[in-house]
Amino acid sequence: MDSFRKIKTLLKSKPTLEGAGVRLKRVFGHPELPLLDPFLLMDDFHSDNPDDYMAGFPMHPHRGIETITYVLQGKVQHRDSMGNSGTIESGDLQWMTAGSGIIHEEMPQETASLWGFQLWANIPSKNKMMAPRYQEIKASEIPTVSPKDQVQIKVICGNLNGIQGPIKDIVTDPEYLDISLQAHTRFKHPVKEGHTCFAYVMQGEGYFDAERSQAISPEHLVLFDTGNRIQVTTEESALRFLLISGKPIQEPIAWAGPIVMNTQEELDIAFQEYRSGTFIKA
Ligand code: CO
Repeated sequence: MDSFRKIKTLLKSKPTLEGAGVRLKRVFGHPELPLLDPFLLMDDFHSDNPDDYMAGFPMHPHRGIETITYVLQGKVQHRDSMGNSGTIESGDLQWMTAGSGIIHEEMPQETASLWGFQLWANIPSKNKMMAPRYQEIKASEIPTVSPKDQVQIKVICGNLNGIQGPIKDIVTDPEYLDISLQAHTRFKHPVKEGHTCFAYVMQGEGYFDAERSQAISPEHLVLFDTGNRIQVTTEESALRFLLISGKPIQEPIAWAGPIVMNTQEELDIAFQEYRSGTFIKA
């Protein structure tokens, strides 16, 4: 039986200062816990003023989470404790599983504009100390599915019409899609029952429930209620949004800065190890 998901909550991104002084917008974070489980935090960085972002995110540790960085415009250089380095730019995505721990920096480069998103996904206790791992994909490696002329979907993670996204083997079984709809379009999409599912509007305007209760504009997040499908429609305006879902973890959360564990003791150990230089396991 089809049951369309209704809108459970609507969130608006708020200006926030992060890293070494980066002005960005926080879509959700600590105050919203555990509303979006398995997701912990999402930032939208979007500016055409390099002063807003050049300070960047100098060397910092992560443990117990995944950070997913999707860059639409501009360039972000990264470097880490495992010896990896590279640049994520226009359409590229990095899915970083911190697991037992990495120390890295993420530094935006000066370009005409910077626009991107960083999402944090939690990892269940039994996998928190897994070996750290990167999946880095170039824009050209992301397949586009077009179920009808008015709909274009970049499949980053998940399986759509038999097309598998390049990001694989993530414990919370996520789906991460970048969806563009033309004006006057109806889009229906199945969502796994029990999974947390949200949409974040990037451009344009659209309706995210079958009743078309209200038009949703950029920098708003729609958290869907229970059900097995969503319906999104556009009227006069085109629409581009991220559609993200994942399996809730439903475990206690102990969170301090860039480290998210299950207990305060695990957090204390992590910071103790960071101070004493034994944080990196792999
Ligand atoms: Co980081």
